[in-house]
Amino acid sequence: MEISDSSSRILAGLLEARTGQQLTMNRRWRLETALSSLMRERGITSIDELITILVMGKEPNLSAKVVEALLNNETYFFRDRTPFDLLAKGALPKLMERRASSRRLKIWSAGCSTGQEVYSLAMMFAEDPSKYSGWTIDIIGTDVSEAVVERARTGTYSQFEVQRGLGITQMVRWFEETPAGWRAVEALRKSVRFQTHNLLELPPHPGEFDIVLCRNVLLYLNQQTREKAFDRLASAMAPDGWLMLGAGETVIGQTRKLVSDKDSRGLYVLATNDEQADRRVA
Ligand SMILES: C[S@@+](CC[C@H](N)C(=O)[O-])C[C@H]1O[C@@H](n2cnc3c(N)ncnc32)[C@H](O)[C@@H]1O
Repeated sequence: MEISDSSSRILAGLLEARTGQQLTMNRRWRLETALSSLMRERGITSIDELITILVMGKEPNLSAKVVEALLNNETYFFRDRTPFDLLAKGALPKLMERRASSRRLKIWSAGCSTGQEVYSLAMMFAEDPSKYSGWTIDIIGTDVSEAVVERARTGTYSQFEVQRGLGITQMVRWFEETPAGWRAVEALRKSVRFQTHNLLELPPHPGEFDIVLCRNVLLYLNQQTREKAFDRLASAMAPDGWLMLGAGETVIGQTRKLVSDKDSRGLYVLATNDEQADRRVA
């Protein structure tokens, strides 16, 4: 079915106002597919009818559901692998030296979708118990979408999802088959926390995170909103903490607050005042 320009503009405007995400051309073509199950659930037969209900504002939580349906939640376990090696071999040994007295690490996955990134981190720590014995590893995952956060909390995945990124050994070690799907074992579920959070708002626990991951979230933000999101991420980091972005993402030209870590490619640290003064945002 043809979707009018005005309908697609209204939906794109709603998504951007709530999350900063711009609706890519590719997703504009697939609006109807993205919204079909929500429309079916509510007995709505066309996008125009959906827009009319939205504009009348009679169903207060409909707009939140529409936004959730339009977000790109693509994720899988140990996505791109290398970043997890970079953390395990580069950042974590240094952090463990620096935090030797508190024996506590705080990690935030911002834009965690259905939780695979967070459980991947939890598996990484759990698979090396002797190294982290006596340490408190606090891992929190947040996402603007309540629906994905609820799914992440269940730690339950379809056969297809659980196989994406996990070898058979890891799959059977950390997941058990249940009628609802493959559920992360209790120890893994208990080692992580999830909450809803919009990246454009103040971060949870400002200034405390040793590692912040924000991968594949900022790609479709406009320049101004992305700069704001980087400010938020920077304000969440401990003074000597690290930020990790997705493959192909960078801070260069996007923010004054963060610079590449000269010793660990792919990781970003807070810029000093001098560095901030020297930098320009595109
Ligand atoms: C493509 S997924 C990436 C998931 C994971 N980080 C990864 O790399 O596999 C992007 C996630 O960012 C979330 N997101 C988009 N805008 C957001 C915002 N303003 N605040 C918080 N989360 C947001 C989406 O809901 C989605 O779940």
